[in-house]
Amino acid sequence: MKQFYLDYNATCPQLPEVTLAMQEVTKTAFGNPSSLHWAGRNARRKLDDARESLASFFKIESGSVVFTSGGTESNNMVIQGVMAGSNDGHIVLSAIEHPAILQAVEQWCTRFLGWTYTVVKPNKDGCLCVEDMMNACQESTKLVCLMWANNETGVIQPVFEVAQACREKNILCFVDAVQALGKLDVNLDQLDADFVSFSAHKIGGPRGVGALVMKRGTAIESLMIGGGQERGRRSGTENVAGAAGFAAALGKLDYANVVQVRDAFEAKLIKAIPSTAFFGQRGERTPNTSMFCIPGLEGETLLMQMDLMGFAVASGSACSSGKREPSHVLRAMGAPDFQARSSLRISFGVDANEQVCDALVSALLKVKTRLKGMSGRG
Ligand SMILES: Cc1ncc(COP(=O)(O)O)c(C=O)c1O
Repeated sequence: MKQFYLDYNATCPQLPEVTLAMQEVTKTAFGNPSSLHWAGRNARRKLDDARESLASFFKIESGSVVFTSGGTESNNMVIQGVMAGSNDGHIVLSAIEHPAILQAVEQWCTRFLGWTYTVVKPNKDGCLCVEDMMNACQESTKLVCLMWANNETGVIQPVFEVAQACREKNILCFVDAVQALGKLDVNLDQLDADFVSFSAHKIGGPRGVGALVMKRGTAIESLMIGGGQERGRRSGTENVAGAAGFAAALGKLDYANVVQVRDAFEAKLIKAIPSTAFFGQRGERTPNTSMFCIPGLEGETLLMQMDLMGFAVASGSACSSGKREPSHVLRAMGAPDFQARSSLRISFGVDANEQVCDALVSALLKVKTRLKGMSGRG
């Protein structure tokens, strides 16, 4: 059976050049980068090179790059780090953030009792409004969190405007850029945020590697306490091969032609199944992402049926599948529960083409006909 991998927002297959770069570092720079001898210096050099690559790619100072174990850690590092630095305060965040922000804020507010938060909803197209975000700020607001692009709908958020507005109000701004990297022009020179989080595996780098860019050098409490690595901001022996793999993956994906494939897919699907409802379609989206629902079909059931036919797709957020919760993103956009439960996300890879798109539409049509037949008998 032919297999189709259409879940690039969950993870992107590791690129061959990334594997090579990592193998080379593992073989030649096996030392602990904190060791003072030649082996340690070799490893330190590789780590510094990787940091320089990220810095020049993002057009920032290399000292502002902190390597982490991924987007989740980077996000937690900011939330907990800011909250631990003060007895009280207030956080504004969007309702469509990844659970690594939403749940981190919720849980830490129950532990740091002086802290409160306000969650701001997007419009029905999945886009946050700058005024809504800033109107939610209070005297005590210390941090505003807004993702660059949503992992489920792909909708691009007004991060530049929010960052600038935060600067004017002297509030820290944190942008989760995990889904933007590789798909959009992520030039941090133009983004006046204090913190920006990244994950290597979304761009063909290794899983379990990420970065937090602390652009303005704002000091926050450290989450990991220990040997003081990463200038005391993230203790623990650095993942040198992982950092090299992250650097090797930068700028390698080209999604320029994928938007046509995605748009053609949506046009063909609505023709084949006119009841399909797309989410975020009217907003500006990352080029590879399409989220929709086919009324009457459970997202998880659809996903499993598609899997049986060789299609790897996601229902709601891949990170929270397994839990049978309707998508929190679609709910925040005001989608009724039946739609939020029956959503499916396709995230194409850079190699997507018309054949993939046709095979996908015909598989969805087949599954719909099959499931409808079964519910008719039941
Ligand atoms: C927007 C966003 N932030 C954070 C994460 C978490 O990243 P990681 O898988 O590297 O922990 C994800 C993963 O899907 C994501 O989509």
